[in-house]
Amino acid sequence: MMVLNQFDRIAAVYDGLARLVFGQRLTRAQEIYLSQILPRSRVLILGGGTGKIIGALKRVQPDCRVIFIEASQAMLQRAKDRNKALAGIEFIHGTEQSIPPGALYDVVITPFYLDMFPEDQLREVIKHVGLTLDIHGKWLVTDFYSPTTIGQRWLERIMYLFFRVTTGISAKSLPDWKASLRDNGWIEKNHARDGFIESAVFVRGQLSAAEMTRRASRST
Ligand SMILES: C[S@@+](CC[C@H](N)C(=O)[O-])C[C@H]1O[C@@H](n2cnc3c(N)ncnc32)[C@H](O)[C@@H]1O
Repeated sequence: MMVLNQFDRIAAVYDGLARLVFGQRLTRAQEIYLSQILPRSRVLILGGGTGKIIGALKRVQPDCRVIFIEASQAMLQRAKDRNKALAGIEFIHGTEQSIPPGALYDVVITPFYLDMFPEDQLREVIKHVGLTLDIHGKWLVTDFYSPTTIGQRWLERIMYLFFRVTTGISAKSLPDWKASLRDNGWIEKNHARDGFIESAVFVRGQLSAAEMTRRASRST
């Protein structure tokens, strides 16, 4: 499982490196579907890094309530500093296990977060996060997905090697996060692809009986 602060070592260089390799493409991909978020939504952001996405979100929906959860203290501090002029944001140092209980969320945003987990852990994470979302909740995912060219496959290898060495993440390759979401009852409503960067909006399909029971036991 994810250990806290694994990304501390690269927090100072993360945004610069991402820009060097991908230009503005990672940022653009994260912003494509923000317009689908309704006014006054409760928005959960997991693994938001240095918090660039908060400014973009607040430009689209200024009165949404944001709960920003980041496992790296150094990333989180940068996110706080960058967004200190903005209201309605709760910053939490933690993981998906730290999602505050109680009210359900309208939207979860996971930008380059699902690809941190090996397949078996990813299924558990998706199940857990799903329980914290309203039945009509939306899941905005941005992540690398299914490289098709030789260049993309090499880049995938290099990125995982880099993150394994610098942060110690346990994933060794891209998980099939779309399949995991589908298996957990999520339906892809929109998607856009740029190279092997995917932006997608998932909504709930019909809830299974097991899911209903899990949700009921969470809210008691
Ligand atoms: C690849 S970086 C992406 C950062 C940011 N979303 C971006 O696109 O610039 C992954 C981020 O997720 C955080 N992270 C990894 N596992 C996490 C978890 N289980 N819960 C919360 N944050 C996590 C890391 O600390 C890191 O900041």
